[in-house]
Amino acid sequence: MTTIKTTPFEGQKPGTSGLRKKTKVFMQAHFLENFVQATFDAVGGVHDKTLVLGGDGRYFGKQAAQTILRMAAANGAQRVIVGQGAWLSTPAASNLIRTRQTNGGIILSASHNPGGVDEDFGVKYNAENGGPAPERITNAIFEITKTISEYKILECEAPDLAETGETMLGDMVVEVIDPVVAYADMMEDIFDFDALRSLFANGFRMRMDSMCAITGPYAVEIFENRLRAPRGTVSHEVPLEDFGGMHPDPNPTWAHELMAELMGENAPDFGAASDGDGDRNMILGPHTYVSPSDSLAVIAANAKLVPAYQSGLKGVARSMPTSAAVDRVAESLGLDCFETPTGWKFFGNLMDAGRVSLCGEESFGTGSDHVREKDGLWAVLMWLNIIAGRGQGVAEIMSDHFKRFGRNYYSRHDYEALPIEQAEAMLGDLRGRLKDLPGMVVEDLMVANADEFSYTDPVDQSVAEGQGFRILFTGGSRVVLRLSGTGTEGATLRIYLERYVPGPDGLTEDPQDALAPIIRATEEIVGVKARTGRIGPDVIT
Ligand code: G1P
Ligand code: ZN
Repeated sequence: MTTIKTTPFEGQKPGTSGLRKKTKVFMQAHFLENFVQATFDAVGGVHDKTLVLGGDGRYFGKQAAQTILRMAAANGAQRVIVGQGAWLSTPAASNLIRTRQTNGGIILSASHNPGGVDEDFGVKYNAENGGPAPERITNAIFEITKTISEYKILECEAPDLAETGETMLGDMVVEVIDPVVAYADMMEDIFDFDALRSLFANGFRMRMDSMCAITGPYAVEIFENRLRAPRGTVSHEVPLEDFGGMHPDPNPTWAHELMAELMGENAPDFGAASDGDGDRNMILGPHTYVSPSDSLAVIAANAKLVPAYQSGLKGVARSMPTSAAVDRVAESLGLDCFETPTGWKFFGNLMDAGRVSLCGEESFGTGSDHVREKDGLWAVLMWLNIIAGRGQGVAEIMSDHFKRFGRNYYSRHDYEALPIEQAEAMLGDLRGRLKDLPGMVVEDLMVANADEFSYTDPVDQSVAEGQGFRILFTGGSRVVLRLSGTGTEGATLRIYLERYVPGPDGLTEDPQDALAPIIRATEEIVGVKARTGRIGPDVIT
């Protein structure tokens, strides 16, 4: 074992999804090592502990995994369970952390950000419940990165991770496992695989786009091998270090190939995509796009069709900017519905306390208490199981849902890479004017209330402040504004727009048209275009 002297880089603060940086930043001498040692120290060391390790297959992942193995061994860890080839999807890692009763794990991913030597890399620590490290740990990591002076590493080669099986690295066991099997088995326990096999046997056509990222091998095993969907159902199924140049973010902009197929002639019955590390999903039917907020609501309304949720949900949760579509379902089913700040970690406490079994975000993330991360393929299987159970296609399911619950028209507009000072000044001004907004009339809309969201966790009473600006209009429409915490370049302003229309009629408008008055009112109140000189958002979802 060698102790290497090092000096701190400027303090490295992990966000809600770990530390994300340009790959070349992580590749600098001592950078990854500093961050990993800070993480080990922040959790009280890893002596005698068992950890899970793996990532989404992006460039530098295997090399980083080997460095981390040498450091874990030098820090006295007992065992590291690592996916073959250093592969593990985020939900699969969460599952292993839990079911193998480990002390936690490290996930190597920058999620939906592009991969490659000139793109992004990331490192995230998950705690023993399988969920992202709580703020007290990420804060401790940050503090340690400011003063770190040495790290421990074994001066020998790490296993190449090509074969499954156990080897020793110093006194530590390296257990290389098939990354897919345990996860696929868990899906088989949750869903009605017989019903899904019949669906495919009867000619149901699906396109799963894995976007050259980590879900490829999982999707091939589950859909093509176990459910016997035709070979070729999964496209872009081989994980590549640069994701084949794709931007593996499952939304209409980045999953445009899938969109074109589902919106075109001879579209399959069902389409889905997932992101770099497999925790996000997008759901499509022929000529039908399901917004993530609506997807959460549909899943909540139909969960009882799925064996694991047959006896009903414990409760549901959504992030604040996510539309209130699921709230209407919760109300009608008599379920508790929690509104949390953006980011998956806030759901973990509620799930650990047995208060909710289903949660989701507008940002293409849906999940349940089977793991402590959002789970892309799980969401796809929920939809398949609901389609099989109801005997209806995606479009019919959506129109029935809107008839019953009404429709929350919804869209998110992103302005990317804004100068940080400009974005902060704009929201700072808005903060100063919040109390003057109620009563203001713009277009046909009157501001009913305006505030900055803060959240008190109902389980541990911890408080998260400054979680986004909300402007509510009379009649239930609203706009939410917040700055992204995951961007790697400048500031990204997210504007979330929502308007509720009760069922059963008038529900077929294009969301951008339905939301036009709110979009104009927002510009009048906040002046995003006027202040940034932009002509419109960079990404609309
Ligand atoms: C984004 C999403 C958020 C999600 C996070 C991690 O964060 O908006 O819902 O939890 O990625 O996937 P943001 O960049 O908005 O801070
Ligand atoms: Zn992700």
